[in-house]
Amino acid sequence: MVDAGSGLEPIQIVAEGYDEIADRYLDWSATAPIRLRYLEQLLELLAPGSDVLELGCGAGEPVTRQLAERHRVVAADVSRRQLELAGQHAPQAQLVLANMLDLAFPEASFDAVVAFYSLTHVPRSHHADLIGRIVGWMRPGGLVLLTMGGLDNPGTVEEDWLGAPMYFSHFDAPTNRALIQRAGVRLLSADTVEEDARDAGARFLWVIGRVD
Ligand SMILES: C[S@@+](CC[C@H](N)C(=O)[O-])C[C@H]1O[C@@H](n2cnc3c(N)ncnc32)[C@H](O)[C@@H]1O
Repeated sequence: MVDAGSGLEPIQIVAEGYDEIADRYLDWSATAPIRLRYLEQLLELLAPGSDVLELGCGAGEPVTRQLAERHRVVAADVSRRQLELAGQHAPQAQLVLANMLDLAFPEASFDAVVAFYSLTHVPRSHHADLIGRIVGWMRPGGLVLLTMGGLDNPGTVEEDWLGAPMYFSHFDAPTNRALIQRAGVRLLSADTVEEDARDAGARFLWVIGRVD
């Protein structure tokens, strides 16, 4: 269902939803191993003390915390409650309360940009432009690690997602692969992964790529 009923913009649904469910999401996702598998791959490729931007950092556990233990991290999220939790888990990170679509940085600011499970909450009509801007913020040789959609979803609201309405929007995996490559990112890996039974039918594309 596209958001016709509530009259809220997608960004309001996402911000209010995560303010509401932040603690529940943290408990729910605590045992999910997939994020760690890809985070470890990125950490192996990144020199210590790198500049890293994280988009949609959520509660900062475990990703922001582990990144900030060895790198300089700027972490953005649109949910105030999520950022409060991120401040507890990753106090070294520089936290920014913002819609990722409103962010602006000078060219060549970062050695890596990561987004774990957050781009799929952004209306997909913005994805190509956003990826293009991300690439512009990166230094040559920089790395991206992005969780993208694996299935086609033009924009839907799940009325009860862990207890609150939640907005989702994404392209399918082949479209996302093409979108990333068109932005000038060389794919190092792009795996389609089925998530576990807690989120039936969820399929994501995990992208690790390099900007040459
Ligand atoms: C599924 S949670 C994932 C959180 C964290 N990355 C993790 O893996 O645990 C998605 C997060 O992205 C944030 N988010 C979604 N859309 C956003 C946007 N347009 N700008 C900034 N943050 C956004 C949400 O507030 C939420 O905290």
